[in-house]
Amino acid sequence: MKTVDVAPEKLIDGKAVAGRIMKDLEAEIRSFSAGGRPPRLSVIIVGENPASQVYVGMKVKKAAACGIDSDLIELPADTPEELLLERIDRLNSDRGVDGILVQMPLPGHLDQQKVIERISPSKDVDGFHPCNLGRLAADKPLFISCTPLGITVLLSEYRVRTEGKNVVVAGRSLIVGKPMALLLASRGKTGNATVTICHSKTENLPAVTRTADILIAAIGIPEIIKGDMVREGAVVIDVGTSRIEDPGSKKGYRIAGDVEFDSVYPRASLITPVPGGVGPMTVAMLMKNTLQAAVLARGESDAQR
Ligand code: GUN
Repeated sequence: MKTVDVAPEKLIDGKAVAGRIMKDLEAEIRSFSAGGRPPRLSVIIVGENPASQVYVGMKVKKAAACGIDSDLIELPADTPEELLLERIDRLNSDRGVDGILVQMPLPGHLDQQKVIERISPSKDVDGFHPCNLGRLAADKPLFISCTPLGITVLLSEYRVRTEGKNVVVAGRSLIVGKPMALLLASRGKTGNATVTICHSKTENLPAVTRTADILIAAIGIPEIIKGDMVREGAVVIDVGTSRIEDPGSKKGYRIAGDVEFDSVYPRASLITPVPGGVGPMTVAMLMKNTLQAAVLARGESDAQR
């Protein structure tokens, strides 16, 4: 909860940056669509996880706002794996669909990795397929996972140099931690960092996070990063979005990041708020990846003629 006085110049305004990117994308998509059809994104959600429902609703809404057609495919929580895989197969072979996204997490009976691997790598706008993760590791990226990609854009927008810096990535998920570490360690403008990944088995987590010039918190445990875990002057990026009970709020819950804002804010030189930091960038990067998928698909179909 934010109770400290916040100086706007210390906040990384992801909402504003994402808004500018969406505006540019809208113009690019308009010109792309004039040469044929608009890009199309198919979003699958299985079950009724309330947070996931909000996220997919946002993705569909933002797609429409920038000129991308989308389908929202809502499947019941007890959908058999074979049925979900068949659905993905159909989307893979549908030439009218450019991007496919299956919202995570999936209900427990579904094998998340199997589902990810069923999506054609050329339509994997989330960048989760091992081919896309492997391409990133090989410095030949095609689709890069949206949250890490959005974070590198934010760092660059705020002129945060990564070269030679100690970056600590807290969290090792396939969605954020691993691709984030790969991006930051790769050659290039938002890379060349000295990267440490830490996780639940890390001994003395505070000692590790205190080495960070840039700290990326992507563990998924609300407010686990406290002020005394952060070096004075560090740049702090909070990827967490957990719902925690808050009887005082209208909805009965609030969204908390992985960072305890009030104790970390005074030590940080720059920090992302939750909400309004990383989240809007994830969605903007999804739109960017979907346009990229559509451009690639059109190029391939032109080449076949
Ligand atoms: N769950 C949390 N973040 C994401 C994301 O970026 N993509 C998908 N598909 N699921 C998620």
